[in-house]
Amino acid sequence: MAVFATAECGMIFSEITVADIPALHQIELAANPYPWPVTAFQSSLSGLYFNYKLVIDNQLIGFVFCKIVADQAELFNICVNPNHQGKGLGKQLLQKLIADLTAKQVTELWLEVRASNQAAIGLYERFGFSCVDIRPNYYRNAQGAEDAHIMCLYLI
Ligand SMILES: CC(C)(COP(=O)(O)OP(=O)(O)OC[C@H]1O[C@@H](n2cnc3c(N)ncnc32)[C@H](O)[C@@H]1OP(=O)(O)O)[C@@H](O)C(=O)NCCC(=O)NCCS
Repeated sequence: MAVFATAECGMIFSEITVADIPALHQIELAANPYPWPVTAFQSSLSGLYFNYKLVIDNQLIGFVFCKIVADQAELFNICVNPNHQGKGLGKQLLQKLIADLTAKQVTELWLEVRASNQAAIGLYERFGFSCVDIRPNYYRNAQGAEDAHIMCLYLI
């Protein structure tokens, strides 16, 4: 298995494989009130995806799923185990993604996020993402529907 980088002692970023899906899905179920199904993980391992997991002391803690098409990338999922949130690990995951995409000459990183997801929006804004559009009532929720914020970070 390829190891992309070791950020600091005990913290390893490495490639996601099909064998990781059960553990990824457990984290997703625990962290995300609107979790990806297993099939979404399975269909997001093909050629254009650029994904990696964060492992600390041999425990899978978080992950990123991103797709690169030409010089544009889309962030489809970023997630940290709830037991490890608020410790800067989301920042580590996103910082690595931005550095790797910049090295690949990607110019723009796009994403969609629920308007109610203040933790994710706070993370994205911290890295300079701006909301460039709003899709009204795009996501279903307990109240019926909520807006999607379309956010972009210009990398170059
Ligand atoms: C979004 C997520 C990945 C953040 O991970 P994390 O490890 O807790 O984030 P960090 O500790 O690195 O915090 C990074 C920044 O995010 C913001 N942030 C994190 N939690 C926040 C919260 N509850 N409210 C507001 N901002 C928050 C802050 O700006 C924070 O930086 P700061 O502490 O220096 O101010 C995590 O909450 C998560 O996995 N959520 C569930 C999955 C999800 O919603 N993914 C996004 C789908 S679009």
